[in-house]
Amino acid sequence: MVQILIHRTMKYRTVACVVMAFCLASTAFAQADAKDLDIPYVPTPQKVVDAMLAMGEVGPKDFLIDLGSGDGRMVITAAKQLGARGFGVEIDPRLVALANRAAVAEGVGNRVQFMEQDLFKTPLHEASVITMYLLPDVNIELRPRLLALNPGTRIVSHDYHLGEWQADAHEMLDVPDKPVGPLRKSDIYLWIVSAQVAGNWEAPMNGKLRGVRLELTQQYQAVQAKLTLEGVPLRVTRTTLRGRMLEVIAENAREEPFRLVLQAEGKVLTGVGRLSAGKPIRTVFNRH
Ligand SMILES: C[S@@+](CC[C@H](N)C(=O)[O-])C[C@H]1O[C@@H](n2cnc3c(N)ncnc32)[C@H](O)[C@@H]1O
Repeated sequence: MVQILIHRTMKYRTVACVVMAFCLASTAFAQADAKDLDIPYVPTPQKVVDAMLAMGEVGPKDFLIDLGSGDGRMVITAAKQLGARGFGVEIDPRLVALANRAAVAEGVGNRVQFMEQDLFKTPLHEASVITMYLLPDVNIELRPRLLALNPGTRIVSHDYHLGEWQADAHEMLDVPDKPVGPLRKSDIYLWIVSAQVAGNWEAPMNGKLRGVRLELTQQYQAVQAKLTLEGVPLRVTRTTLRGRMLEVIAENAREEPFRLVLQAEGKVLTGVGRLSAGKPIRTVFNRH
């Protein structure tokens, strides 16, 4: 285990772990060998757990994975209070046993599970929500895998962001019982995984062959659109991508608004386009 982890344990991470472990030396579950961990055990205060689950809009349809699940409080709360299912992965076997016992005691042992497993080797595709309280460089190392999750998957992180991937939401909470940090505050961040929509798209409209052309460039959830209607360029005023849902608002030379609301499904964008007060027209865009 030590060998598996050591290649990732860079100087900064080791220092951060030792600092966090030092701060935690007085807590009941101080880990004996913090230098072997990617992240030491620091429990998320319950107030922050509740706020993270609310930010991720966790509900009964969700499958939540907590990366580095500690005593299991995130997954257990999601199951008990919000009806979700899920699992936690944790490198420390004592915490895994503690979390599985707590799940049974809280009556959710049939909906959640905790496994002794390296979070870097855990398949994440099943998740509709990922929660994590890790370290900055661990988040960055995980970022490519998080970006590749199903569009619409929510990622909620305690205290650390994902670098240049801007959060869709951010809150700062006062947390008087936080076991680390002098400020007794917690940042929480939300990201929604976006569909990959960059490219050139084309759809017939009103039976006209030239139809609508859409040229999209994308960085994370930020999308820029160029739109042409029946060969005439429109002025795009707003483009929004949230998970699979893409909305493009534009206007023509007479300042008549044109609105496209599309959903990314496999290789097509489907939805409706509507010019001014005209009838909405169902459109299917293909890449060209
Ligand atoms: C800061 S704690 C967060 C615990 C819990 N998620 C919470 O919010 O209360 C991070 C946890 O990650 C675990 N951990 C560290 N490296 C890990 C790895 N490579 N795979 C799985 N868990 C790991 C630690 O043992 C620790 O319990």
